[in-house]
Amino acid sequence: MSRKKLIAANWKMSKTPDQAEAFLGAFLPLVFGHTRDEIVICPPYLSISVVAELLQNTGIGVGGQNMFWEKEGPYTGEVSAPMLVAAGCTHVIIGHSERRQYFGETDETVNRKLKAALVGGLTAIVCVGEVLAEREAGICDDVLRRQTENALREISGDQVSKFTIAYEPVWAIGSGKTATPEIAADAHLVIRKQAALALGEEAAKKLRILYGGSIKPENAKALMSQEEIDGGLVGGASLDPKSFAAIVRW
Ligand code: PGA
Repeated sequence: MSRKKLIAANWKMSKTPDQAEAFLGAFLPLVFGHTRDEIVICPPYLSISVVAELLQNTGIGVGGQNMFWEKEGPYTGEVSAPMLVAAGCTHVIIGHSERRQYFGETDETVNRKLKAALVGGLTAIVCVGEVLAEREAGICDDVLRRQTENALREISGDQVSKFTIAYEPVWAIGSGKTATPEIAADAHLVIRKQAALALGEEAAKKLRILYGGSIKPENAKALMSQEEIDGGLVGGASLDPKSFAAIVRW
């Protein structure tokens, strides 16, 4: 089964609109005509409009880094799926470990957000991953199964083209420590097996599972050429146009 890879930049809390524009000025020529992989850029909210405008007709997607599940109302500081779509987003990251760690996201909120993203017409990138202590305690697979099961509650197999799961071992994020391609591929198999219970075998075969955690130009090829790895979610190394382009062109 060949699944088109998706390489997404997660800029986190980096880049003002001006800095985003400068990035694209340098980045776009470097990936011009690249169609092998799908490319998505996830800027902070305030830079979404400028990025969406500059990416028109490039085939490159734009993603939010988070969203709330309600459409509108008295939820200070939040944005909704329809608002992301109106600003030009095609994608949204849900349940990133930094949101789970610093902003109280739980498996349950991840599930509510995923459902709202799908209703809103966004393609979701749902993050799962174990922390170091869980890996060391030998419960990594249990954690991945639990997170996947809960994220996919009431999601059906016919929605599988509208979301991806990103396996992001928390110990590999921003740490310079990358999971080996084998560790990542093993984790992806656990996630896919669990997804099959929720979505059905056939749909689970179509599910794209990305890897994230210290992807760099130097390790992108080894990771991306794994059959089980359907793309990457790139943080730090996506902030520099040359380095993100080198990852896209792995
Ligand atoms: P990193 O971040 O590439 O800087 O490790 C990845 C992520 O958090 O999505």
